[in-house]
This record gives sequence, structure tokens and C-alpha cells, in this order.
Amino acid sequence: MAQRRKIGVIGAGNIGGELARLCASKELGDVVMLDIPAKESFAKGKALDLEQNSSVIGYDASITGTGSWADLAGADVVIVTAGIPRKPGQSRDDLVAVNLPIIRDVADNAKKHCPDAFVVVISNPLDAMVYEFQRRAGWNPNMVAGMAGVLDSARFQLFVARAAGVSIKDVRAMVLGGHGDDMVPILSQTTINGVPATQFIAKDALDAIVKRTRGGGGEIVNLMGTSAYYAPASSAVAMAEAYLSDQKRLLAAACWLTGQYGYKDIYMGVPCVIGGKGVEKIIELSLNDDEKAMLAKSAASVQGIVDVVNKSALGRPSSRGGAVSTEARRRVALVDHARYLARTPACSSTTLRRSGERSRASRRITFSSAYLRRSIVSKASSSLRSCGAWHARSTRSRSVHAGTSAARNLVSASSGESSPVEAAARA
Ligand code: APR
Repeated sequence: MAQRRKIGVIGAGNIGGELARLCASKELGDVVMLDIPAKESFAKGKALDLEQNSSVIGYDASITGTGSWADLAGADVVIVTAGIPRKPGQSRDDLVAVNLPIIRDVADNAKKHCPDAFVVVISNPLDAMVYEFQRRAGWNPNMVAGMAGVLDSARFQLFVARAAGVSIKDVRAMVLGGHGDDMVPILSQTTINGVPATQFIAKDALDAIVKRTRGGGGEIVNLMGTSAYYAPASSAVAMAEAYLSDQKRLLAAACWLTGQYGYKDIYMGVPCVIGGKGVEKIIELSLNDDEKAMLAKSAASVQGIVDVVNKSALGRPSSRGGAVSTEARRRVALVDHARYLARTPACSSTTLRRSGERSRASRRITFSSAYLRRSIVSKASSSLRSCGAWHARSTRSRSVHAGTSAARNLVSASSGESSPVEAAARA
């Protein structure tokens, strides 16, 4: 008997929930939503709500929540949203220090539990996170892509449609490059069903659209206080569906480059064909000189973050061939979870036993808009010790003492940090 496909959604937050809803309502397969053990019951609750929704709307798919990677065994598709979203004032790149250990954790588990899946990474900074997932897990590059181009193109198309006064269905456009402020809307090939957009929209208006597209994610962060999730989820589902149904769709996505457009050994947004074999082909458009220059600038930005990732000792193979520093990795995971818990009321109240006292203290651990301020870190040391003790227990580390001293060490090591990016480089 034929079995339904299995879709793993990593992270049961805003994007994760919408992903599960879309995948199930399109009956793409059964959905397993995974979150950290501390949020397992939250994931289960969200899954139950979505399953009950199936009986109202009428879709046949099971949706389960879990904190155990074993439940992801045999997944056909894995969509990764695990990580911390942006807050107003942060760039995507500001997330690298906090999301790097998370993507490494996800890569290790995916390799162990669902090595044959087609993986779509959404976590930011996108191009660096998908790069690190592939590098860390040694994944087939054709079977892992980053979701950014579909979303950025969708935003661009919407603004073009509104300015031209035409249906969104008739706008054809693509945004390439990195998923950052230097992304490259390809104006030379933007059409309203084949008619150049320049026939509908004046140059200054088009320039304004390009600018708004580049800041499209930030505009929503500023309005909502957190990242967008409906359009990001739909964009990732388009990629997952293209794979599951062998649609051979031509979409913009962050793909592994081996010389296309003059770049190699990085992930960056390019047009590609996604079908049953994953990323089956990368399409090279003929770009004009301006577009080539913009792509070079965007690639340099991506490379800058990738260099930080590469420089990080975490998980880099040692001269003996193993992971360099399990302790270092554990220490960063520890502080990241502490920071995360401190910023998640549901989590801090359920997981930190003496929640009143500890969550008040742990709330003092905050990021400034882009920088972790030295003074905040030092004031937060006692909170980190509390969180460290919890983390050490929850990850079955050898002793609570190891966790607390790791937190203390990390806090003192952090006191001179000037930015999360530099922190990651030094870790
Ligand atoms: N394993 C599994 N889940 C994790 C892990 C981990 N190691 N670390 C964090 N998570 C979970 C969090 O517990 C949270 O439930 O990831 C979820 C993220 O959800 P939200 O905080 O709601 O964030 P969301 O808006 O969904 O964005 C997720 O996508 O677009 C990017 O910048 C965004 O990096 C962010 C990511």
C-alpha cells in the first residue's frame, strides 16, 4: 500500500506552524514538527490544533509535534526554521552567532535521522546557514537549498504589480544574490507577461521598488516586532512541493555554486530547476553590467558571513579529523539556549523551575539592536549560571557544575565582544 510522504518541520514557531498548516492542507504528506525538548509540549499543542483544523477544513494528513529527532526518521523533506528571528534594528547577519550552533545541531541530527531528505533551509542569515548545514552534514549539495529567492521575488513582484496596476499573476520577475540588503532584483528581465516592466513603471518608481524589496523583510520586522512568516512559509512549501511532485519548477533559491555566474564554493540565490532529484539545474541568465556589479557586491556580502562561519572553530575538523571542541560547541549552545529562554516567556516559565526569580533575572540577558553590550552581559552572569545549570541537566551533561562553569567562562569570554558576528568568529 502506498504511504503518504513525510515532511519534517524543524522549529515549531511562527514559520514552522504556518509550514505545517500549508503542507497538510495541500496534502503534501504527514507533518512532524520538531522543537527543542523544552518546547516539545508547545509543538505537540500546535500540532493538535492544526490536526483539529483538518477536520474543519477537510484535509487528510497527520500532524504531530515532537522533541525527539527519532520521529523524523525517513522524512522525505525537511524544512529548517530553527533559530531566532530578527528584532527591529537587527540585520539578518546579526543572527549568525546565535543561529550558527543551532544549525549545526540541526545538521548533526538530520544526518543521523533523515539523511535522504530534500532539505530547505529558512533560518537566517540564510546563505550562511544553508552553507553551514551542507558543510557540517556533508549533504549532497543538490539536496539542500535555501529559501530566499522565492520570497524576495514574490515581494518584488507584488510591488511591481501594484505600481503597474496589473494582476500579480502576470508579473514575472526574479531576485538573485544573497538574502540581504544587497539582493539583486533583475530589472532587465522583469516583465508583465513578457512586456518589459519599464513600459509600465518609470525608472524612479522602479528604483524605489528595488529599495523597498531589499528592505522588505525589515519593513515587516519593524511593523510586527518579529520576522514575517506567511510568505516565507509559502515560499518554502513551493520548493518542497516542486521536489515531492517532481514539478521541475524554475525558482530562485540559494544553491551551491560551482562556477555559475563566476562564483563557486558558496550558496547564493540563483534561478534553478527543482524536481524529484532536488536542485536539478542552475540557470544562467545573461545579466547586464549593472546587474553583474550588484551580484558581485551581494556575493561579497555573503562571502563575508561565510568567512566568519568558516573561521569559527566550532565543528571545524581538527588535525586529528574529529570535531575540534565539543566543549566549545556545548558552551555556545548553552549560552544560546540561555539567551533564547530569557527571551521566550512560555519557555522560561515552563522550563526554569523557579520561574519567578529566574525569568526575572534571565530577562536581563538581551541583545542590543545589533550588539551584545558588555555591561548587559556582565550583569547577566548570574542568570546565565541558572540557565547553565538547567541546560547541563537537560542535555545530560556530566554535571551541573560543568554547565555553570561553562556559562561563567563564556560570560567572561564574552565581556570583550563587540558584535555577535565577531563573537562567532572568536568562539
Ligand atoms: N532545534 C529545533 N528547534 C529549535 C532549535 C533547535 N536546535 N533552536 C530553536 N528552535 C526553535 C525555537 O524553539 C522556536 O520554536 O525554532 C523556533 C523558531 O520559531 P520562531 O522563534 O517563531 O521564529 P520564526 O519566525 O519561525 O523564524 C525562524 O527563520 O526567517 C528565519 O530569521 C528567521 O532565523 C529565523 C527562522
